[in-house]
Amino acid sequence: MSKIHFLYLPIVIVCVFISSCEKSDKEIKEVALPLFYIPDGFPNPSGQLQNNPVTTAGFALGRKLFYDPILSKDSTVNCSTCHQQFGSFSQVDHSLSHGVNNLLGTRNSPALINLAWHSEFFWDGGSNHIEVQPIAPITNPVEMHETLSNVIYKLNRSSTYPSLFRSAYGSDTITSQGILRALAQFMSCLISANSKYDQVRNGKAFFTATEDSGYTIFKSKCTSCHKEPLLTDLTYRNNGLDAHFADAGRARITTLATDSGKFKVPTLRNIVLSYPYMHDGRLNTLSKVIDHYRSTIVLSSTIDPSLSSGNMSITDAEKAQLLAFLSTLTDQTFITDKRFSAQ
Ligand code: HEC
Ligand code: HEC
Repeated sequence: MSKIHFLYLPIVIVCVFISSCEKSDKEIKEVALPLFYIPDGFPNPSGQLQNNPVTTAGFALGRKLFYDPILSKDSTVNCSTCHQQFGSFSQVDHSLSHGVNNLLGTRNSPALINLAWHSEFFWDGGSNHIEVQPIAPITNPVEMHETLSNVIYKLNRSSTYPSLFRSAYGSDTITSQGILRALAQFMSCLISANSKYDQVRNGKAFFTATEDSGYTIFKSKCTSCHKEPLLTDLTYRNNGLDAHFADAGRARITTLATDSGKFKVPTLRNIVLSYPYMHDGRLNTLSKVIDHYRSTIVLSSTIDPSLSSGNMSITDAEKAQLLAFLSTLTDQTFITDKRFSAQ
């Protein structure tokens, strides 16, 4: 990962201007916050940004594109329509995504978190590069329903984009590669690593007794798939939702019957915020998710071997402890970070 640049965006905390406040006042402080970094205890990122190092101008261009409905056919939908910051960049309250003309997709919008550690995207891993992935939502008829060539045409006519491209890449020429690389830079910087769970790991906070008991249960029943510290092992598995698969999941990509009903293990970071749950948003509370693992696991032919003995034994008291632990995964800094918001 040596080529990934560690960038520092100066955040200026401006003094409160009371009548006598001069610009030379010592109260003006500069705090350096990294834009892309590897949090303590995290593994190495996927490496997909090696030829596309994050720059302040590239990140800013990516953010502008992410929030701009110009990427959609009728200028009504932007990436954040379905990936809202307050919902950890998922679409809160919608079981299936809503795109242009309020058309329904077939899957739930996943949270966008720590994507620089992923090398495959979507519930079925249908895209294998972070720089290619945005083509899917831009061109999907039920998402943004636009073409890349028309996006380039519209951006060329805008008064702001040519200069933003010059800042990012040294040339006014707007290319699809420039668009995709900027979006990849922005999304790679959506790093969440400051939840209470992280602070406990780093020795800066302590779990309550209930949270700690929940963590113990979590480690014995959940981390084989929701692996620490990303809280996903990034593999595809069947966690026992169905006997027959309306959505074949991973098998849509590999065409292997043995992959039917397998989906990418989702991260559980910020999980309280990113409801509803599962690839089709079928469960609207975490309480129902735990109830699934303790009472409705379906033993189909592709069930994950670790669940082959069926329902987990989880008492009501243990369920409450697990829920308390899951709520420590919320990272308020991530959902309020102004650098990730529409500017
Ligand atoms: C209409 C809603 C909608 C819009 C608009 C949308 N997305 Fe998504 N996004 C989804 C859904 C649904 C999925 C899951 C798709 C699947 O698994 O087949 C998804 C998946 C993703 C993923 C994969 C995450 C993972 O963990 O694998 C990324 C990255 C992403 N979107 C980025 C974007 C970007 C960038 C844009 C704008 C160019 C965008 N999305 C626009 C609904 C949307
Ligand atoms: C065998 C692997 C496996 C185990 C063990 C497992 N999960 Fe999952 N989990 C998954 C998969 C795969 C999905 C996505 C399934 C889908 O949408 O079809 C998922 C989805 C979830 C979701 C929904 C996430 C979202 O963004 O929609 C939650 C919450 C969850 N699991 C919590 C847990 C908890 C808590 C435990 C332990 C009690 C646990 N899981 C054990 C594989 C597993």
